[in-house]
Order: sequence, then structure tokens, then C-alpha cells
Amino acid sequence: MPIDSARGHVLGFVVVTRLSTTLTDALAIDAPILQSGMGGVAGPDLVAAVSNARGLGILAALRLPPDQVRAGIRRVRELTDRPFGVNLWLHDDVVHEPPVADIPVDSIRSVQRVLNEFRPRHDLPSRLDSPPPSPDLVAAALEVMIEERIPVFSAAIGLPDHELVDRFHRVGSSVVAMVASGPDAAEVVDRGVDVVVAQGAEAGGHRSFGQKLERGMVEGTTVDALLIEVLDVVGARVPVAAAGGIVDGHDLAGVLVAGGAGVLLGTRFVATFESMASDLWKQRLLAAGPTTSTTITDAFTGQWARVLGTDFTERWTAADVRPLPGLLHATMGADLFAAAKRSGDDQLQPFYAGTAVERITALCGADEVVHSMVDVARSALSARRVGGTEVTDLR
Ligand SMILES: Cc1cc2nc3c(=O)[nH]c(=O)nc-3n(C[C@H](O)[C@H](O)[C@H](O)COP(=O)(O)O)c2cc1C
Repeated sequence: MPIDSARGHVLGFVVVTRLSTTLTDALAIDAPILQSGMGGVAGPDLVAAVSNARGLGILAALRLPPDQVRAGIRRVRELTDRPFGVNLWLHDDVVHEPPVADIPVDSIRSVQRVLNEFRPRHDLPSRLDSPPPSPDLVAAALEVMIEERIPVFSAAIGLPDHELVDRFHRVGSSVVAMVASGPDAAEVVDRGVDVVVAQGAEAGGHRSFGQKLERGMVEGTTVDALLIEVLDVVGARVPVAAAGGIVDGHDLAGVLVAGGAGVLLGTRFVATFESMASDLWKQRLLAAGPTTSTTITDAFTGQWARVLGTDFTERWTAADVRPLPGLLHATMGADLFAAAKRSGDDQLQPFYAGTAVERITALCGADEVVHSMVDVARSALSARRVGGTEVTDLR
């Protein structure tokens, strides 16, 4: 199916709706819908489209050098005057990458041997060498965000410490932290964050834990159960948004009725005109059906993430090899994964996707995702006040 970047419909008029919750109050937005920071997907166009639609677009900053982070922030500001966020991982091994020299040579070679099984597909030579160390980019990106006084800092895959939260607050930024457990939610609230996102097991992309967990622990808690657990520990101290397997307004209504204050979506926004994901990735999402399986793997980055299953993820699981720490694994396989991307080899690319991917059936504009979710949620709630949620028009 060819993907056309032209809009599939004409909007005769734009309906702007508002669904006020404690989340919209906290972030000065009108729709309780956050678009996740997503590396290689969430650039300025997507972020601005979501923010202009009155949700919160979040720019991805992982592994970007500081000048690119600054340029991205400034571009978003050219495209919208609405609040937006910038996202970074705070995973222990990403903030402070273990020295390559400390990694046993045998570990490096056993990973390379699995990658070598696939390198001939792309005429790449076999290798057994160590990856180069990654540049330390997290601290520099944080400095840029603080200097630029971004409206919202979005922390994930690791917890922001008290000092970092304070630094953002001092320049007027709100702090949103994504967690995947009740104890982590309690911890970030104690550290002063303004919003908690509860990431359930259904979520596409990486698990929001600050350390690498053992395989048996990584699946996590379903989003419904986690939302309740997090609401229990957080109480009314800060708004809680749910993430994982949420794609439409019925899902949003369900979260609001359960006591959540909004939602954060990743996969749904990958399949939009403004996302920077490849056409092949978007096609794979739209083609997903009931038999499409997603899997949690550390095959691509070394950290656990939910992706569409491929022959590479199957082989990696069967090989039962431990990847390198931090994101060194991604660096080591960069030759292979980049060649796969260039040639459109869909078995060797990480097509991150949540379990609800089969319910995404059309490519559309990011604004349409936000507007339609609000409209459907409003109808589903079909009452002026439900569980503290006020539903009002903003035409
Ligand atoms: C393509 C993709 C990339 C992602 N990249 C990031 C990221 O860079 N930072 C982050 O905090 N979360 C990232 N996530 C995870 C999301 O924050 C979120 O937890 C998840 O997408 C929610 O589940 P859903 O995909 O079912 O909507 C990513 C998710 C996807 C699908």
C-alpha cells in the first residue's frame, strides 16, 4: 500500500474541543492527550501538529547532539505557540554508559556472532570488534532544554532526581515522568514531578524502568491494573495519565472513568502524516491484524522494547545472548540495522509498536487523532461531568 503524505480528506471547518482534566490544567493544554517523544519519529512537525490541536506534542531528544536539540526546540516554536515537551531517557546505563573496556571480550564476540549471521544479507563483512564508546549527550541535552526554558520536560526510562526537577521548575518548565511501577510513581512524586504517566505492558517501544530488568520481570503490569495501582499510591497529589495500547476516544474515556487524567500515545502517532517513521513502518502498522504479534525484545538496542516480531527477534531470543549495556548494543549493530533500513529489509528493523496496533487502520493527520479522540470520548462519557472530568466546548 503506497503511503501518500497528502491528506486523505478535506476539513471543511475545524472543530476545536476541550476536555478539561487535572492534566490539562497542569500542562496548560485543552485536550488530555500527550504524544510521546519517539526517537526517529517525533520531530518538530509532529510535535507542533499535536500541540496545535491542543494536546501536548513531545519532541524526542535521545542521542541527539545539543545543537540538534536546540534547533528542534526552536523549530517547534516557529510552528506553534502552544505548550510542548521535550523527552529524554534517564536510564542509568544511558546517562552513564559503562566503559567499553570493562565489557568482557567474550560477551562482545557472542553478540557479534549472532549479528554476523545476518550481515551477509546486506553484503556486510563479519566482525568481532568492540563498539566505539557513545558520546555523553544526556547532560548536554538537559542543559539546552533548561537554557531554552522548554514548557515541559518529559522524563522516561529512568527517574529524574530531585535536583533536576527543581532546575526545570526554576525556569518555569513542568516535569512529566513516565513509570512502569507503583513504587517508581511514588518516588517521582516525592521528587516533585508535576505529572505521572503510568506505562502499561501493552506499550510500544521501551519499558520505562531505570535499570535493565531480567527477562522474566520485563513484561510489567497491564495498563488498567497499573493505572489503579499508581492512582492508589499517588492519590490526588498529581495528575496521572495512562500509556500503552491506547489508540482512540473510547480508550480515553475508559481511562478518565477509571480516575486517570489523560493519556499518552506512541504507536497511534507513528501512523500519522507528520511522523518521521518510514513509509514501510507505517505500512506494517496499518497492515497489522489479529494474527500480528508484537514481542518484547532487547535485540535492537540492548534494552527491552515492544516491536513487531521478525525473524531477527526470533533468532536473537533463541540465541539467548546477553546484549551489551546501555545503548552500546545498538551502536555495535548500527552497520546492519542501517543497511536494513536503506534497503527496506523489514525483518531487521525495530518497528516499535504497542499491542493495540491492530486497531490502527488508517493513516491520518496528528490533529485528526487528537480531535477525534476528544469527540469520541465526549460522546462516550455523554454527561457534562463524569468522575471530576468537565466536558466543555471551545468553538
Ligand atoms: C516508535 C516508538 C518510539 C518510542 N520512543 C520513546 C522515547 O524516545 N522516549 C519515551 O519516553 N518513550 C518512547 N516510547 C514509548 C512511549 O512513551 C509510550 O510508553 C508508548 O508508546 C505507549 O504505548 P502505545 O505505543 O501503545 O501508545 C516510544 C514508543 C514508540 C511506539
